[in-house]
Amino acid sequence: MIGFIVKKFIGSKNEREVKRLRPLVTQINALEAELQKLPDDGLRQKTAAWKEELSKITSNDELAAKLKEILPEAFAVVKNACRRLCGSEITVRGHPLKWEMIPFDVQLIGGYALHSGKIAEMATGEGKTLVATLPVYLNALSGRGVHVVTVNDYLAARDGEWMGAVYKFLGLTVGCILHDQSPNVRREQYNCDITYGTNAEFGFDYLRDNGMAQRKEDQVQRGHYFAIVDEVDSILVDEARTPLIISGPAVVTYDEQYARFKPQVESLFSTQERLCNRFLSEAGGLIKKQHPVDGSNVKKGKATEKEIGLLLYRVKMGQPRSEGLMKLLEEPENLRLMNQAELQLHADQKKTDLYAQKEELFFAIDEKSHEADLTEKGRNYLSPKDPDAFVLPDMTTALHEIDAGPETDPKKRLEAKTKLQQEFESKAQRIHAISQLLKAYCLYQKDVQYVVQDNKVIIVDENTGRLMTGRRWSDGLHQAVEAKEGVQIQRENQTLASITFQNYFRMYTKLAGMTGTADTEAFEFQQI
Ligand SMILES: Nc1ncnc2c1ncn2[C@@H]1O[C@H](COP(=O)(O)OP(=O)(O)OP(=O)(O)O)[C@@H](O)[C@H]1O
Ligand SMILES: [Mg+2]
Repeated sequence: MIGFIVKKFIGSKNEREVKRLRPLVTQINALEAELQKLPDDGLRQKTAAWKEELSKITSNDELAAKLKEILPEAFAVVKNACRRLCGSEITVRGHPLKWEMIPFDVQLIGGYALHSGKIAEMATGEGKTLVATLPVYLNALSGRGVHVVTVNDYLAARDGEWMGAVYKFLGLTVGCILHDQSPNVRREQYNCDITYGTNAEFGFDYLRDNGMAQRKEDQVQRGHYFAIVDEVDSILVDEARTPLIISGPAVVTYDEQYARFKPQVESLFSTQERLCNRFLSEAGGLIKKQHPVDGSNVKKGKATEKEIGLLLYRVKMGQPRSEGLMKLLEEPENLRLMNQAELQLHADQKKTDLYAQKEELFFAIDEKSHEADLTEKGRNYLSPKDPDAFVLPDMTTALHEIDAGPETDPKKRLEAKTKLQQEFESKAQRIHAISQLLKAYCLYQKDVQYVVQDNKVIIVDENTGRLMTGRRWSDGLHQAVEAKEGVQIQRENQTLASITFQNYFRMYTKLAGMTGTADTEAFEFQQI
């Protein structure tokens, strides 16, 4: 498989490699001692001369050979620039910061590993940010653009500004891709010698360039030559298979399932709300009885405690976002009783009591697994004439019954089976739509998980609070929330373009990674 195959681990932890590269380190340090004699401008001229020379090279092999040749001196130039910067004050994210770093020998080795397309494994705090400047400078001399990939916008901006001090001192340009930039600004950042940004921004720009940009001049990226991925384990292992998706412009269609069941689910939701409020006030009454206002010392009834716990747990299943419940749970004793009830209900293998508790409700929501289940009460509520409308038939038995039945004509049998299959599917879809709608009502709150703008439901990133315009929840959930909010329901599967991070990073001619915690097994997984 082409692209990103991890050849070998290298870094401070790998003593053999460190030893093998001793001579290179000695050479870099000797060259650096010489460079100390040059005036600042003399050092800068090196960059210009190399850039000029390398810009004439078109073949990848020739470029690689040339870079290998100048590596010791280029690394020495970076090290020397760091030395010259020492004591000077730079501004990073609006704060003054004194530069006081000159790469250690082990960092030179780390830089070499990155240049060779390996993963540099260095413990947290060993200075990977600085290590990256060595191969970044060297490869940026090619003029083909070097991308440094960080895990979040803050680090992209911080590292770009921080390490930018070195690049700029040496006469290279540095850019940074941030979430809210316009295409023109992005293009400028990509046109820099070095560009910092997150994997998501790089990936989305690629998708926009190749999915939506109609003309070459609308594209923002200019190629994929060399990328160094920081925290590579989280980006290329944890998130590797999560595809980035750009969905298309609003298509006026009507996904009738969600709209059709909305009124019923809405009324079911408020009925359950009333029921849960009743449980809450019952619980509140019992709690008061346990703690008389006159402070008299009543003996606490175990049975009452259990009852309180069960009532609270029912509300947790029936209306997990209930404010009344949150309020009662602020009291640690109440929380304890509820958790105890939950624990006991789950301890029983057969879960008889748990099911009995669920049956008190119209539907039960599991916040953790994100499941919503209709109970018998709920099914009766939605479809009093045909409670089975929301029960999936046992297909195996049903098919078997047809085979064992009185009908012997194979054609008729097949017809009966096809009909059964169709019924099963339409029922499954109905159940799915109801379940997604229930989740939309119970777990997704407006202005918390999403906002409504211009007749659209826009996801709010739960970590950063950012609006994730263009992204959609999958599996019908987005449609369900759209139905709930009464905005236009967009058709599912209108993905314009999608790519996994793994495939995105495969496009680079050269790829390297940095990590504090290399997980060997996880990386081997990448080699499949
Ligand atoms: N050569 C050096 N001389 C002096 N200080 C250094 C040197 N290299 C790195 N540092 C300092 O070490 C600290 C940690 O650096 P950095 O944030 O790059 O570590 P890291 O390896 O990326 O860690 P993490 O895994 O937490 O991201 C920084 O404060 C930096 O100033
Ligand atoms: Mg770091």
